[in-house]
Amino acid sequence: MIQPARLVTGGLAVPGDKSISHRLAILAALAEGASEIVNYSPAADCESTLGCLRRLGVKADAEEAAQGASRTVRIRGGGLDGWKKPSRVLDAGNSGTTMRLLTGALAGQSFNSKLTGDDSLRRRPMRRVIAPLEQMGARIRAAGDGPGGGGYAPLEITGTPLGPIEYALPMASAQVKSAILLAGMFASGATTVVEPVRTRDHTEIALAQFGATLRRDHLRIEIGGRPRLEARQIAVPGDLSSAVFFLAAASILPGSKLLLLGVGMNPTRSAVLDFLVQIGASIRVARLEERSGELVGDLEVAGQDAGRLRGGKIGGADVARLIDELPMLAALAPYTEQGIEIREAQELRLKESDRITVLAENLRRMGARVKEYPDGMRVGGRAEADGARLRGAEVDPQGDHRMAMALAIAALGAEGESTIRGAECVTVSYPKFFEDLEAVLQR
Ligand code: S3P
Repeated sequence: MIQPARLVTGGLAVPGDKSISHRLAILAALAEGASEIVNYSPAADCESTLGCLRRLGVKADAEEAAQGASRTVRIRGGGLDGWKKPSRVLDAGNSGTTMRLLTGALAGQSFNSKLTGDDSLRRRPMRRVIAPLEQMGARIRAAGDGPGGGGYAPLEITGTPLGPIEYALPMASAQVKSAILLAGMFASGATTVVEPVRTRDHTEIALAQFGATLRRDHLRIEIGGRPRLEARQIAVPGDLSSAVFFLAAASILPGSKLLLLGVGMNPTRSAVLDFLVQIGASIRVARLEERSGELVGDLEVAGQDAGRLRGGKIGGADVARLIDELPMLAALAPYTEQGIEIREAQELRLKESDRITVLAENLRRMGARVKEYPDGMRVGGRAEADGARLRGAEVDPQGDHRMAMALAIAALGAEGESTIRGAECVTVSYPKFFEDLEAVLQR
């Protein structure tokens, strides 16, 4: 249950980046020796990755830090050929990144494996990773295969030697790119991926950190076959995709002032900051530095008086650079003057839920004006609502963590109390979200 709040104040370190944590865990498990990942994400998704790696015979121990906020994971890898045939099915839970990246890393192994996930993940398209991997020689059987088959988990992977390919990605997807790059390490030569637009490059950065041979030329990435990965000690930056909920909360509640510490600021992820500043938010980046190849900084955000956030339009190449932040931007739109239009974002329909439909339904329940498009949505601002505020409502995030958090923030500025059904789904990316939010709220 969410009561409206007056403002947010204080300082906060959001948990370690989910996207980066997956990659570091998988690469540490393929490296030779003991790696240490500091500030590993507490997300259930990243636990799923560790669980799968353990079933592949990898030793991975998590150690909680004193305050319980940051945790260190130690992973002992045995090199590219160190994984063992799993005796049980590998369960990726709710995590698309776990399933797609591991499919790439498992295709070229000398053993067979099977990957599955929860109800949501078993409805998400896997053909997009299976198709390029098959071109490399992989043998993967998916449920729903056959003529016009969908390619859904469970995936049965028959380990087999792989050959290099050059592959032009038909969609902007860092997960598909990463699956091919991971499989490329098991191929007999250099594998090339060409992206349609730039997507998050955490895999490329992490591969370079672990010593893989990688060449990048704008949208073209080449990885050499059979690299020798060396164990590393690396710290994970705070997750900007989690920080965005606090940036939004502060921006819509006048008088707010928040300091978010050590947030990942990789330019392939940070378009949300550009957009928020462009529509009138007050965000300052302090202490920007590079750590293990990733940009990290502190963010200072201050609340804006009603009417100061203008609203605007998002589309084109920006979409890939803020795809996971779009739910929060849609839920922030009623607090802007002109509203927010999101287009060319059909990928949103293929996430943990159909995020366009789920957002439209729930924001309408709170009184927002929403127009749905096949590739996006327009959420009206204050001008369209004659200045009327959102009203508290009972909303249903459909088990999707980012829906739950975006709706919780929208509820803070609404009139009356809101109820979020199944709000515990936030554990997928941010188990302590509600505690952290409560700690900065002033009522
Ligand atoms: C991710 C890539 C994006 C993103 C997801 C995490 C990653 O998905 O939405 O939350 O870690 O590579 P796509 O690759 O499907 O665009």
